[in-house]
Amino acid sequence: MSNTPTQIQLIQPDDWHLHIRDGEVMKDVLADTARQFARAIIMPNLKPPVTTVDLAKAYQSRIESNLKLLGVSGFTPLMTLYLTDNTSADEVRKAKDAGIAAFKLYPAGATTNSDAGVSDLKHCHAALEAMQAVGMPLLVHGEVTHADIDIFDREAVFIDTVLEPLRKKLPELKIVFEHITTKQAAHYVRDAVTGGKNTIAATITPQHLLMNRNAIFAGGIRPHNYCLPVLKREEHRVALLEAATSGNSRFFLGTDSAPHAKGAKEAACGCAGCYSAFNALGLYAEAFESVGKLDKLEGFASFFGPDFYSLQRNSNKITLVKQAQSIPMELPLGDTTIVPLRAGETIAWSLV
Ligand code: DOR
Ligand code: ZN
Repeated sequence: MSNTPTQIQLIQPDDWHLHIRDGEVMKDVLADTARQFARAIIMPNLKPPVTTVDLAKAYQSRIESNLKLLGVSGFTPLMTLYLTDNTSADEVRKAKDAGIAAFKLYPAGATTNSDAGVSDLKHCHAALEAMQAVGMPLLVHGEVTHADIDIFDREAVFIDTVLEPLRKKLPELKIVFEHITTKQAAHYVRDAVTGGKNTIAATITPQHLLMNRNAIFAGGIRPHNYCLPVLKREEHRVALLEAATSGNSRFFLGTDSAPHAKGAKEAACGCAGCYSAFNALGLYAEAFESVGKLDKLEGFASFFGPDFYSLQRNSNKITLVKQAQSIPMELPLGDTTIVPLRAGETIAWSLV
């Protein structure tokens, strides 16, 4: 007999991996996130990318203007910088002093707007050493990009050829393995030996907890379920769900909600990214409920992220109710529209 609650209270969660883009589009997507989360790690893969403290400060003030226009108070963007082959140790120290939350490593060519990313980590040694020295987290898009590596193997190969060597070289560097998608990544993070230090963690998206790769091909090509790293086999989804709901503080919430205009997704060469921000918490609640672990949601969503980043946990509470919410077919996005994850369907849980 199951006795699933119909309502749960949580300390307000944060989103530790989010894309809000820029300009008009930003205002439309920011409102969805700010309704649910107190803070979010803002990804720097704009065009051009946010590579310096000055660019991040300017981006932050555009975000704050949009929050003001939306009448939102009580949401804090946590800014990140985009690591390049040319990032200096000085910029890292300047970023630390300026309150930048993290640097993001995009291997060049790995995903949306990653052309200016890192071609080889050997170019970044001084910057990475400085990050380790000042306690600046490095967020990694963990995929190799060589065309000869099968797309479904890119994360597992990254662990062996990039992540493990990096951790050996800089064992005290704080690393978040972002949006993990495989059993190999979940087990790597779970089993990593850190000498009791908070040096490795991983974020997990709602789509990777709820769907496997069949969802990209269900009855035809489903561009709105296409993101990077791409959805994997069922055994990987099961391993991710097991990690997220285990109560292990190395795993925490990061939606990777990534808006692209409808036309840019439904195209001959469609963009990667799922827009989950509309009811991200409902999606996570559904995933945790599916394995009877709703009691583990608060740690994953609200505690382990701030603990890793050495920030205060939030103190206000939110309530989720088991009440189906219909997801619109489309939402406004600047002068176009966006198709949210699960468009036209319902999500079992919603925010009060
Ligand atoms: O699917 C994705 N979309 N994965 C990423 O890594 C980037 C993101 C985006 O910015 O659209
Ligand atoms: Zn992302």
